[in-house]
Amino acid sequence: MRIVQLSDPHIVPADRQPVHGQDTLGRLRAAIDAVNVLSPSPDLVVMTGDQINDGSEDSYRAIKDVLSYLRFPCHMAIGNHDYRPVFRRIMLEESVANSAPYYYALERAGQRVIVLDTQDEGEVAGRLNDVQLDWLERGLSTNPPAVICMHHPPVPVGVAWMDELILQESGRFLRICNAHPSLRLILCGHVHHDFCIELDHATVLTAPSVGLQFRKDPVIRADGTRVIATDEPAAFRIVDIDDSGWTTSIRQLAS
Ligand SMILES: [Fe+2]
Ligand SMILES: [Fe+2]
Repeated sequence: MRIVQLSDPHIVPADRQPVHGQDTLGRLRAAIDAVNVLSPSPDLVVMTGDQINDGSEDSYRAIKDVLSYLRFPCHMAIGNHDYRPVFRRIMLEESVANSAPYYYALERAGQRVIVLDTQDEGEVAGRLNDVQLDWLERGLSTNPPAVICMHHPPVPVGVAWMDELILQESGRFLRICNAHPSLRLILCGHVHHDFCIELDHATVLTAPSVGLQFRKDPVIRADGTRVIATDEPAAFRIVDIDDSGWTTSIRQLAS
């Protein structure tokens, strides 16, 4: 199975670009053009959160429009910048207002994938409540997935300012994952950077952003404001996984 992971596009409409100095809408469109001609084609495209930058309806309409150029369906995880009621209404076309967490499982090419919702509403850091962890534990026991996709990394990445904002109180989540050797990959976003952390059996991979990259060491301006974004190119992750193992690479776009 080939997975393409697009993460953290932070979209706003064209008339409100740029975001942290980058045209995130143009960058996502360029990434879509690159994904459309990948060979082999992806079996699964996942977007691991922060689909939009500001939770607004016009931002979701903008990303929905640009995703219409993608040749493959795009499965999404909720990030801290997302707003569930609007996400559900625009992206999932639900007719009733609903702020419920959005988590689900799917099957592709003989592999099971679970997508979790780590948003802790109003917070930048993430959290998984017991209802979702109970659901995850049942799923891992009865029909174990090879891959979990989620926005917030469940373990520190080694960068102090980022590690304050990862999944909080992740102990039960990690115990569940470590009890199931069939789980091999946990694909995360949020930190806008490529990190790799080993658990007991599975590997946590974080992805660079398809919109804008973060600095490991933010620059503090004379006026005290903090600059966290860089001018590095947009990028996305490719994962190839089968019963014998997995490989991954980062595809950096031209600008
Ligand atoms: Fe983000
Ligand atoms: Fe985030």
